[in-house]
Amino acid sequence: MPARDLAQAKPLPVPKQWQKEIESLLITEDQIAARVAEMTAEIQRDFKGRELVVVSLLTGTVLFLADLIRHLELPLRLDFMGVSSYGGGTESGDLVFTKELRLDVAGRDVLLVDDILDTGKTMDRVLAKLFVLRPRRIKTCVLLDKPSRRVEKVQADYVGFTIPDKFVVGYGLDFAERYRNLPFVGVLHPKVYRQHARTLPRKKR
Ligand code: IMP
Ligand code: MG
Repeated sequence: MPARDLAQAKPLPVPKQWQKEIESLLITEDQIAARVAEMTAEIQRDFKGRELVVVSLLTGTVLFLADLIRHLELPLRLDFMGVSSYGGGTESGDLVFTKELRLDVAGRDVLLVDDILDTGKTMDRVLAKLFVLRPRRIKTCVLLDKPSRRVEKVQADYVGFTIPDKFVVGYGLDFAERYRNLPFVGVLHPKVYRQHARTLPRKKR
């Protein structure tokens, strides 16, 4: 099944305790659960009982990953790669690898999981790193896709939801390491990152 396109979705009411920071609710807990179940079924069909190495990117995938693999009836091994972009704002900066892969993926079927595909720089760099290790095949899986922001020519094989160009948080996604625990995906109030920008040290040139 194709990704659910939320480009024209009507904003849903935000739970009271988050109204100050979250501008609108984009994807509810129930919508996420239903879509993740569909994605699990699709992955299961495609890999037909082969053993997977699931490579998940830290830290934004934690909730999505747990829900995705919980009902995956395939043998699998799980590993993490740490990728982080410098700078605490909403733009991706220079990428640094903070944790390297430990499992051997040579000749293996790999499922690469990330929270969101934005400019594509992260996915592009990580895929290049994985291909060198000669896996049998790599399929990519993301909860969210913001195609309008793409810089690199990269697409994901499994996409949960296609979303408009808004900075979103929740269900694992953060702003400056916060909001990962929200059970839904919501649009962050721009005033939150404007406020934050004023408290960041100036970039050295
Ligand atoms: P890309 O390298 O620009 O594709 O960005 C991918 C990474 O940027 C993701 O793994 C996220 O950590 C982060 N990111 C991009 N857009 C958002 C967003 O709207 N909210 C939270 N994190 C985001
Ligand atoms: Mg991330």
